[in-house]
Amino acid sequence: DSSFTKLMKPMKEFTRGKIPKISVVGAGQVGTAICAMLLLRKLTKYLVVLDINYELAKAEAFDFQHGSVFLGDPRVVPCGDGSHSKDSDVVIITAGARPSGKDRSRLDAMHKTVEILKEAVPKLVDLSPKATFLIVSNPADVMTYAVQRIGKLPRHRCFTTGCHLESARFRNLIAARLRVPPSQVQGFVIGEHGSSAVPVWSAVSVGGIRLNDVVKDLACGKDPENWAEISELVTTVGSAVGKVKGYTNWAIALTCADIVEAMCSGRGKIASVGTDMKGFNGIKDNIVLSLPCLVTAGGISHVFEMPLTDVEKKKLHASAEILLEAQCSLKF
Ligand code: 2OP
Repeated sequence: DSSFTKLMKPMKEFTRGKIPKISVVGAGQVGTAICAMLLLRKLTKYLVVLDINYELAKAEAFDFQHGSVFLGDPRVVPCGDGSHSKDSDVVIITAGARPSGKDRSRLDAMHKTVEILKEAVPKLVDLSPKATFLIVSNPADVMTYAVQRIGKLPRHRCFTTGCHLESARFRNLIAARLRVPPSQVQGFVIGEHGSSAVPVWSAVSVGGIRLNDVVKDLACGKDPENWAEISELVTTVGSAVGKVKGYTNWAIALTCADIVEAMCSGRGKIASVGTDMKGFNGIKDNIVLSLPCLVTAGGISHVFEMPLTDVEKKKLHASAEILLEAQCSLKF
């Protein structure tokens, strides 16, 4: 308190208006990039930077706070034990173990990440029982399945950005090929957020013109224009960046902010996000994978069972099989 505050006579007791409170769990390269995008896009005025390493959480939160005059005066609060995340509207989970050393496979990292989530998730759910949980920790589909189980969360309110990122890369690659703005290319990638993701070429449109009405054998059969190259790139460009930088963070952060905007703006958006898709597009088991969904306040309100060619259906089910096997390997 300073002598100045004595001049400030309250008219009514101070209450904070209802603002979307967002907690980002994990203050690594991805978590802090997400914080930056949320603040830059003014999607929250109350952001909790949560990390088990409280000193790191504090340093990152203070670094953002020092720039808050340029960000519309948001509250950015560090947290180490989850306590400050109470009553969050959205909890974004990026925490996880990174595969390290030559022999440590992604699978080992996956099991280590599940142990971290087993530790963190129950308390986060207790403190914010109504929050929407957005899972970014990789492997994102399997981690989403884990958080749904650990936190006993409904599938509409615990989901992953999933193939919303592959869809963005897909649109970008097609746009670059055609020299049109990426926002003018509509297209979805479905299935695993990973190497078995399925680009749905049959649904691609450029400015409303269906690509496969114009291009013969689009990305299939003879494929004289070699569009299949883009199918390959969609699932490899991310790791190519990761090989140079050691990680990817900007595209995933922008993807995450786009989903938060869809939820917090109340406008909603159709995006290929991942959750338990049992009962949709012929998925018979509880498998987390991405399909086009209507994302609105509070989470996923609808799933679009998009028409798929036989080849696309086959690829989707192959992707589902891979994910089911990984999910079944988890130990709860
Ligand atoms: C990506 O594909 C980090 O999984 C994220 O870039």
